[in-house]
Amino acid sequence: MSHFDTLVDICLKRGIIYPDSEIHGSLSGFYDYGSIGYEIKRRWEEAWRKHFLKLHPNFHEIQTTTIMPMNVFKASGHLEHFYDPIAECPHCGTKVRADHLLEDYLGEKFEGLTTKELNELMKKHNIVCPKCKKPFKEIENFTLMFSVDVGAGDDKKVAYLRPETAQGPYTAFKREFRANREKLPLGLAIIGKAFRNEISPRQFVIRTREFTQAELQIFFDPESLPEVPFDKIKAYKLRLLPQGEKGIIELTCEEAVKRTGMEPFFIYFMAMSQLFMEKMGLLEHFRFKQLSDEEKAFYNKYHWDLEINMPSFGKWIEVAGFHYRTDHDLRGHAEVSKQKLNIPGKNYVPHVLELSFGVDRNIFALLDCNLKQKKDQWYFALPPIVAPYDVAVFPLVNKDRLPERAREIYYSLNTTFKVFYDDSGSIGRRYARVDEIGVPLAVTVDFQTLEDDTVTLRDRDTGNQIRVEINKLNDKIAGVF
Ligand code: GAP
Repeated sequence: MSHFDTLVDICLKRGIIYPDSEIHGSLSGFYDYGSIGYEIKRRWEEAWRKHFLKLHPNFHEIQTTTIMPMNVFKASGHLEHFYDPIAECPHCGTKVRADHLLEDYLGEKFEGLTTKELNELMKKHNIVCPKCKKPFKEIENFTLMFSVDVGAGDDKKVAYLRPETAQGPYTAFKREFRANREKLPLGLAIIGKAFRNEISPRQFVIRTREFTQAELQIFFDPESLPEVPFDKIKAYKLRLLPQGEKGIIELTCEEAVKRTGMEPFFIYFMAMSQLFMEKMGLLEHFRFKQLSDEEKAFYNKYHWDLEINMPSFGKWIEVAGFHYRTDHDLRGHAEVSKQKLNIPGKNYVPHVLELSFGVDRNIFALLDCNLKQKKDQWYFALPPIVAPYDVAVFPLVNKDRLPERAREIYYSLNTTFKVFYDDSGSIGRRYARVDEIGVPLAVTVDFQTLEDDTVTLRDRDTGNQIRVEINKLNDKIAGVF
């Protein structure tokens, strides 16, 4: 089995991630997180919150709705611009994203080309339907927005499922700015669902139609950039792939300011984003890729993708974006709503720096880069902060007062840690099952425990066991995190 197939197989078998509504025949591009997967995801989200929201006292998390009125997306430009090019086969009905099709054939990226340019390339390279080998129809634009009817009869209105969480903070900006004493910078984060009617969802949770984003919108005055503790990170090295470079170059933050022409304020938040990936143990798989003018989202002045080199696909995949969206959004919302969103005393609206993380792609990256094999067993060597449990507790055998003692230890540890308990089957199988889902530590209660109040503590990655006094167990486990 390939690396990817092994990963998906464990996800399905162990209730990590699986297709939604399977018993009725799933819609493609919709996935559920099971008990193990949701815990990994929840922990990733908690780590993201802790990392980014503590960067400034005026950064906050909010929760806004997933269905929003049409005017929101008139103002943001999504109704006009949020399309993907579709290649449709008139013979067998196959529908694929035209730029991805070309990428699969020619091994280059074609994102951002016009339908005219894509049609010319399809003709030039004689690209036909991969299923029936017949020519496609002319490539057209296909909207990614899901529309919904809200209300009944004459009151019915067309609304849309948000394609990014970002529009929530923009529409809530006026109230939040006032509620937070009219201070800039103001950071508004949302961790929540986004929806896109992708033409061809693929690669498991990499491209889906319903997904989770963790996005932070930082509103600031462009004429007086917020102060950041740049001195603390000026020697920290960023892993960059600027336009024109063939491979990653490592530049200190200070060098990156000179090389990119971006102010320290922006480079600081790039460093914070990379530090988060480092916390997740993904640094060696990570790079920032600078996008060309054609590739950039229509609203961005600076645009770098955060990419992970994924073993499953043998290539770099975008997991997050660093976007300087300027005044694009607030200006649009002010125009369409006829409301003033200005900085007090100035005749312009705040600018926005957006850190936009795709949660599902980050979870996939964690699983993919940490899928390891020892002997003939595959397991996820997840960093402890995102493991689904901190520690497992097992009685060596399910008799002779060992389960009772093990359960006592389970209840005393689970006031501090997330603890897994299992007393059925052989101890070898139980270790293998918790290794597989990435639990970093396992405590085993054996006959010696009954004599001297010690247990064994086993490390997932090495399989090594040490003997620990029960009253020192808490500190020993905490030391791993
Ligand atoms: N607010 C900006 C924004 O949404 P984006 O580059 O379109 O920017 C941000 O999306 C992140 O959301 C991506 O880096 C990716 O991780 C995730 N994402 C986007 N489309 C996705 C999809 N169809 N399925 C899963 N994740 C997706």
